[in-house]
Amino acid sequence: MICFWWKRKSSKNSQKKTKDYSHTHKLTNHTSLDKVKVDLKLNGKKDDSKNDQLALDLKSLKLKVPISADGNDNGSRAQTFSFDELAAATGNFRSDCFLGEGGFGKVYRGQLEKINQVVAIKQLDPHGVQGIREFVVEVLTLSLADHPNLVKLIGFCAEGEQRLLVYEYMPLGSLESHLLDLLPGRKPLDWNTRMKIAAGAASGLEYLHNKMKTPVIYRDLKCSNILLGEGYHPKLSDFGLAIVGPSGDKTHVSTRVMGTYGYCAPDYAMTGKLTFKSDIYSFGVVLLELITGRKAIDPTKSHKEKNLVAWARPLFKDRKKFPQMVDPLLEGQYPARGLYQALAITAMCVQEQPNMQPAIGDVVTALNYVTSQKYDPQIDRVQRCRSPSSPRVRRGDHKHKHNVSDDGNERDRSVN
Ligand SMILES: Nc1ncnc2c1ncn2[C@@H]1O[C@H](COP(=O)(O)OP(=O)(O)OP(=O)(O)O)[C@@H](O)[C@H]1O
Ligand SMILES: [Mg+2]
Repeated sequence: MICFWWKRKSSKNSQKKTKDYSHTHKLTNHTSLDKVKVDLKLNGKKDDSKNDQLALDLKSLKLKVPISADGNDNGSRAQTFSFDELAAATGNFRSDCFLGEGGFGKVYRGQLEKINQVVAIKQLDPHGVQGIREFVVEVLTLSLADHPNLVKLIGFCAEGEQRLLVYEYMPLGSLESHLLDLLPGRKPLDWNTRMKIAAGAASGLEYLHNKMKTPVIYRDLKCSNILLGEGYHPKLSDFGLAIVGPSGDKTHVSTRVMGTYGYCAPDYAMTGKLTFKSDIYSFGVVLLELITGRKAIDPTKSHKEKNLVAWARPLFKDRKKFPQMVDPLLEGQYPARGLYQALAITAMCVQEQPNMQPAIGDVVTALNYVTSQKYDPQIDRVQRCRSPSSPRVRRGDHKHKHNVSDDGNERDRSVN
């Protein structure tokens, strides 16, 4: 028997969980199911954390860090900071420096005089749902990683009971705040930006899976963990759940199920067998959120529409229904071909069987192709007017059966 329980943030935490979506210090209470972490134990077995392959030795943090393939220190060594330095950087954790709060604790914007840099400082909440393990794994993973689509860890503080993480500051905040919890007056993301964010996030994931000396499964891919820099440059953040992937003949890592409800791959949730494909499923959910503007889990929606993937599955089978899936906030400003391609990638990523899902390298290649075709609403409008056989004209033509390659406009077919 499989025993589920949802590891909720304590009600105290849920109450406290607020976010600054505008970066104008306007705070919004935010509690929803999509924030609920999954913690599933198999057959009532005890937590098999011995199988978690990352050493949790705090002492090694300062030592065995980033030596790149060519043997050089890659310059991303995490620095240590004193608690006083971090308190000074945030004006003693002043409320006007508060950026938001997650399972680890509160996040503040700070100015670190020692390195003359604006940073984001995350302070571990001793009563929160995350703890020392997440802190250590975060520092280990990010100390070993160096990629333009992964948030940079500048340093940390481990002084007495205090555990704080210091990151580069990401001025545009999380993807979630631009896509799913859009404040009135904030402009929705356009099509090109959405695809650029997807391609960047995929690149970060590819680095974790394929390019790190010790490949890592991320386990916490979701919109709130994709942070945005200038020009909406995306970076993955929050590596506290990351785990070293299977190596040699092994196909999976057996571990308790952790992640966020709605993003967690069904086979991993059922069996506790974690594979690189578990991240691919979560990536597919994020891509679906980018296309539809809907949340992975939305308790405010009707039963049929609560779970985004369950809602999307039948629609993937009918190309004529693709436009119904698009975020209404795009107001029709998207390329029919690009939509088809993006949905084809999404449908493959959220397949239930991991062996049917693409590897991250293929996802990156496909998304780079999608982003290479920049969508220009002006040109699109002119082309549609000129061509009587344009996709929008054909979309309603049920008898029309074309068989043209990758465009998604000419074929009457589904993506699944
Ligand atoms: N480096 C950063 N730069 C700017 N803002 C950040 C940074 N890191 C986190 N934030 C902001 O802090 C808030 C809380 O982030 P945090 O990662 O702790 O929680 P979360 O992602 O919402 O939830 P979870 O605990 O499930 O990951 C978010 O609004 C996020 O945008
Ligand atoms: Mg986060």
